[in-house]
Amino acid sequence: MIKFGILTTLATLFLVCVVSSCHGPVPTSIGNTESPNVTIPSDITPPDGNCFKFSLFTSGYLLYTCNKNKTWSAGSGIGSIIPKDTSSLVVTTSATHPAPDSRDLPWALGKASNNKGDGAFKDITYLVRVNTCGGVAPDNSLCGTTYPTGYNYS
Ligand SMILES: *[C@@H]1O[C@H](CO)[C@@H](O)[C@H](O)[C@H]1NC(C)=O
Ligand SMILES: *[C@@H]1O[C@H](CO)[C@@H](O)[C@H](O)[C@H]1NC(C)=O
Repeated sequence: MIKFGILTTLATLFLVCVVSSCHGPVPTSIGNTESPNVTIPSDITPPDGNCFKFSLFTSGYLLYTCNKNKTWSAGSGIGSIIPKDTSSLVVTTSATHPAPDSRDLPWALGKASNNKGDGAFKDITYLVRVNTCGGVAPDNSLCGTTYPTGYNYS
Protein backbone atom coordinates (compact mmCIF):
# COMPACT_ATOMS: atom_id res chain seq x y z
CA MET A 1 0.00 0.00 0.00
CA ILE A 2 1.33 3.40 -0.89
CA LYS A 3 0.11 6.87 -0.11
CA PHE A 4 1.40 9.74 -2.20
CA GLY A 5 2.05 13.36 -1.38
CA ILE A 6 4.26 15.86 -3.10
CA LEU A 7 7.58 17.27 -2.01
CA THR A 8 9.24 20.18 -3.69
CA THR A 9 12.56 21.57 -2.57
CA LEU A 10 15.48 23.65 -3.64
CA ALA A 11 18.86 21.95 -3.29
CA THR A 12 21.98 24.05 -3.37
CA LEU A 13 25.12 22.04 -4.02
CA PHE A 14 28.63 22.91 -2.98
CA LEU A 15 32.06 21.65 -3.91
CA VAL A 16 35.45 22.08 -2.29
CA CYS A 17 37.37 24.89 -3.84
CA VAL A 18 39.45 27.90 -3.08
CA VAL A 19 37.66 31.16 -3.59
CA SER A 20 39.54 32.09 -6.75
CA SER A 21 38.48 28.90 -8.58
CA CYS A 22 34.83 29.84 -8.05
CA HIS A 23 35.35 32.31 -10.85
CA GLY A 24 36.52 29.62 -13.28
CA PRO A 25 34.36 27.88 -15.88
CA VAL A 26 30.98 26.79 -14.54
CA PRO A 27 28.78 24.05 -15.98
CA THR A 28 26.29 25.30 -18.53
CA SER A 29 24.09 22.26 -18.92
CA ILE A 30 22.82 21.64 -15.43
CA GLY A 31 20.68 23.42 -12.88
CA ASN A 32 21.08 27.06 -12.17
CA THR A 33 24.66 28.22 -11.70
CA GLU A 34 23.60 31.59 -10.33
CA SER A 35 23.64 31.34 -6.56
CA PRO A 36 19.94 31.62 -5.59
CA ASN A 37 18.82 34.55 -3.48
CA VAL A 38 18.20 32.40 -0.40
CA THR A 39 19.61 33.18 3.01
CA ILE A 40 21.06 29.91 4.28
CA PRO A 41 20.73 29.71 8.08
CA SER A 42 24.14 29.56 9.79
CA ASP A 43 23.47 26.12 11.33
CA ILE A 44 23.20 24.55 7.87
CA THR A 45 25.90 26.52 6.07
CA PRO A 46 28.70 24.33 4.62
CA PRO A 47 32.09 24.72 6.31
CA ASP A 48 34.63 27.25 5.03
CA GLY A 49 36.53 26.01 1.99
CA ASN A 50 33.41 25.00 0.08
CA CYS A 51 31.73 27.14 -2.50
CA PHE A 52 28.52 27.19 -4.45
CA LYS A 53 28.42 25.09 -7.64
CA PHE A 54 24.79 24.94 -8.76
CA SER A 55 21.23 24.73 -7.55
CA LEU A 56 18.49 22.35 -8.53
CA PHE A 57 14.77 22.71 -8.09
CA THR A 58 13.28 19.29 -7.50
CA SER A 59 9.79 17.96 -7.22
CA GLY A 60 8.69 14.43 -6.52
CA TYR A 61 8.28 11.87 -3.80
CA LEU A 62 10.29 11.02 -0.71
CA LEU A 63 9.50 7.42 0.23
CA TYR A 64 9.26 6.44 3.91
CA THR A 65 9.00 2.86 5.08
CA CYS A 66 7.24 2.00 8.36
CA ASN A 67 9.76 -0.10 10.36
CA LYS A 68 8.96 -2.89 12.83
CA ASN A 69 10.15 -0.63 15.66
CA LYS A 70 7.46 1.97 14.87
CA THR A 71 9.74 4.53 13.24
CA TRP A 72 9.86 5.74 9.67
CA SER A 73 12.99 5.43 7.49
CA ALA A 74 13.44 7.77 4.57
CA GLY A 75 15.21 6.71 1.41
CA SER A 76 18.61 8.26 0.72
CA GLY A 77 20.97 8.65 -2.19
CA ILE A 78 20.43 10.81 -5.23
CA GLY A 79 21.39 10.43 -8.85
CA SER A 80 21.71 13.01 -11.56
CA ILE A 81 18.54 13.68 -13.50
CA ILE A 82 20.48 15.13 -16.41
CA PRO A 83 20.20 13.01 -19.58
CA LYS A 84 23.42 11.03 -20.20
CA ASP A 85 24.86 12.14 -16.83
CA THR A 86 25.05 9.03 -14.66
CA SER A 87 26.91 10.59 -11.74
CA SER A 88 25.47 10.02 -8.29
CA LEU A 89 26.21 10.42 -4.63
CA VAL A 90 24.92 9.54 -1.18
CA VAL A 91 23.92 12.36 1.16
CA THR A 92 24.14 12.00 4.92
CA THR A 93 22.27 14.69 6.83
CA SER A 94 24.62 16.43 9.25
CA ALA A 95 22.41 19.27 10.48
CA THR A 96 18.82 20.41 10.12
CA HIS A 97 17.01 23.69 10.55
CA PRO A 98 13.23 23.79 11.06
CA ALA A 99 11.31 24.90 7.98
CA PRO A 100 9.19 28.01 8.55
CA ASP A 101 6.11 25.76 8.34
CA SER A 102 6.24 22.45 10.26
CA ARG A 103 4.32 20.68 7.47
CA ASP A 104 7.45 21.07 5.33
CA LEU A 105 10.55 18.89 5.49
CA PRO A 106 13.22 20.55 7.66
CA TRP A 107 15.90 22.45 5.81
CA ALA A 108 19.18 20.54 5.98
CA LEU A 109 22.89 20.37 5.41
CA GLY A 110 23.99 17.04 3.94
CA LYS A 111 27.52 15.71 3.49
CA ALA A 112 28.12 13.98 0.19
CA SER A 113 29.96 10.68 -0.09
CA ASN A 114 30.29 7.78 -2.52
CA ASN A 115 30.46 10.20 -5.45
CA LYS A 116 30.34 8.09 -8.60
CA GLY A 117 30.53 8.84 -12.30
CA ASP A 118 32.29 11.56 -14.25
CA GLY A 119 29.39 14.00 -14.21
CA ALA A 120 27.95 17.01 -12.45
CA PHE A 121 27.88 15.33 -9.05
CA LYS A 122 31.45 13.99 -9.09
CA ASP A 123 33.00 16.82 -7.05
CA ILE A 124 30.02 17.72 -4.85
CA THR A 125 30.90 17.86 -1.16
CA TYR A 126 27.75 19.25 0.46
CA LEU A 127 24.10 19.67 -0.38
CA VAL A 128 21.97 22.34 1.27
CA ARG A 129 18.23 21.67 1.16
CA VAL A 130 16.11 24.81 1.51
CA ASN A 131 12.65 26.13 0.57
CA THR A 132 11.02 22.76 1.10
CA CYS A 133 7.31 22.24 0.60
CA GLY A 134 5.73 19.06 1.98
CA GLY A 135 7.57 15.78 2.41
CA VAL A 136 7.13 15.20 6.16
CA ALA A 137 6.60 11.61 7.43
CA PRO A 138 3.43 10.84 9.39
CA ASP A 139 3.68 10.83 13.18
CA ASN A 140 5.56 7.79 14.57
CA SER A 141 2.41 6.81 16.49
CA LEU A 142 0.73 6.08 13.14
CA CYS A 143 3.52 3.71 12.06
CA GLY A 144 2.36 0.18 12.83
CA THR A 145 -1.21 1.34 13.51
CA THR A 146 -2.87 3.39 10.77
CA TYR A 147 -0.01 2.36 8.49
CA PRO A 148 1.16 -1.26 8.99
CA THR A 149 4.81 -2.34 9.15
CA GLY A 150 6.29 -2.26 5.67
CA TYR A 151 3.90 0.44 4.53
CA ASN A 152 5.47 2.91 2.11
CA TYR A 153 4.43 6.52 2.54
CA SER A 154 5.52 9.50 0.50
C1 LIG B 1 17.04 38.91 -2.20
O1 LIG B 1 15.97 38.66 -1.29
C2 LIG B 1 15.83 39.69 -0.31
C3 LIG B 1 14.78 39.23 0.70
O2 LIG B 1 13.66 38.67 0.07
C4 LIG B 1 15.46 41.00 -1.02
O3 LIG B 1 15.33 42.03 -0.07
C5 LIG B 1 16.56 41.35 -2.00
O4 LIG B 1 16.20 42.49 -2.74
C6 LIG B 1 16.82 40.18 -2.98
N1 LIG B 1 18.00 40.48 -3.79
C7 LIG B 1 18.02 40.27 -5.09
C8 LIG B 1 19.31 40.57 -5.78
O5 LIG B 1 17.06 39.83 -5.73
C1 LIG C 1 14.38 1.18 13.82
O1 LIG C 1 14.57 0.32 12.74
C2 LIG C 1 15.27 0.89 11.65
C3 LIG C 1 15.26 -0.09 10.47
O2 LIG C 1 15.56 -1.38 10.88
C4 LIG C 1 16.67 1.30 12.09
O3 LIG C 1 17.39 1.86 11.01
C5 LIG C 1 16.54 2.31 13.21
O4 LIG C 1 17.83 2.64 13.69
C6 LIG C 1 15.69 1.74 14.35
N1 LIG C 1 15.47 2.82 15.30
C7 LIG C 1 15.49 2.62 16.62
C8 LIG C 1 15.21 3.83 17.46
O5 LIG C 1 15.74 1.53 17.10
